[in-house]
Amino acid sequence: MKLRSIVLGLAIGSFSLLSMAQQPIIIKFSHVVANDTPKGHAAEYFKKKAEELTKGRVKVEVYANSTLYKDKEEMEALQIGAVQMLAPSLAKFGPLGVKEFEVFDLPYIFDNYDELHKVTQGPVGRMLLDKLDAKGVKGLAYWDNGFKSFSANKDIKTPADLKGLKMRIQSSKVLEAQMRALGALPQVLAFSEVYQALQTGVVDGTENPISNLYTQKMHEVQKHLILTEHGYLGYAVITNKKFWDGLPADIRKQLEDAMEQATRYANQIAKQENDNALEAVKKSGKTQVYVPTVAERAAFKKATAKVHTEMESRIGKDLIHSIYKETGYNPAK
Ligand code: LMR
Repeated sequence: MKLRSIVLGLAIGSFSLLSMAQQPIIIKFSHVVANDTPKGHAAEYFKKKAEELTKGRVKVEVYANSTLYKDKEEMEALQIGAVQMLAPSLAKFGPLGVKEFEVFDLPYIFDNYDELHKVTQGPVGRMLLDKLDAKGVKGLAYWDNGFKSFSANKDIKTPADLKGLKMRIQSSKVLEAQMRALGALPQVLAFSEVYQALQTGVVDGTENPISNLYTQKMHEVQKHLILTEHGYLGYAVITNKKFWDGLPADIRKQLEDAMEQATRYANQIAKQENDNALEAVKKSGKTQVYVPTVAERAAFKKATAKVHTEMESRIGKDLIHSIYKETGYNPAK
């Protein structure tokens, strides 16, 4: 009798172990933008590749548009393991205690994607991702979005036109200093709150790549858009370090491969998505799009150049200069 129950117990135990072994590993990937954006598409692409390469041993659940968490909450959720993956914009790492990422927010530090990639795909980019380890976070990759432009309900052609405007920013001290340098009044708001804040006049304007402006319908509540392309907005894809290190080695390798493919895809589509969004904004007829002249663009660069030196004590002079070295940044040009 005793023997029978032991055998039965062992059988039940190994059955449940077997069924546990067959349960897929779930990766909850939370983000704040629409599906139809560079980040939204890249997250879906990663899901597809991860599930293919692991032959279903991993299941990726993508939660777009802040449906699971807003900006601040998603960082906390990752740290406590409530979600396994995020791709916050590089402007949102200050609250986590890694303020060096705000170097990417410096006005006009990158003129184009090629200059940016020298950093994100080189040793400086890797060094920055490695800084996340100490926070229990593992940096996996950089995904592009694009270059930000100012929008408002007022026609903006010169830095002086921004004076006194309440402008929504992400939670970055560099962006705060940038807005102050222009005489605007910066207001930090979660991405999910921007449309309503613009609609109700809580803020007068904002800055974003056009793919974000368009997919959040901000163009419906902003009469003017000036294509300043004054700063970069992109993402670090991050995971909970304990979760990542605890994965079986073969699965981790397959996920690394999936991430590599998704990164290539993200960085291939980002510019085109923003170009398409700009066409769609123009076609909507709701927002007047202004292309600044070379002299007008230079005036914005000149007005915000002091932010680079002001922020040296926060971000590190050496880090800023190591980026200048990679990109050939010239404040006078
Ligand atoms: C924003 O808050 O404006 C952006 O960071 C949103 C995003 O993730 O692209």
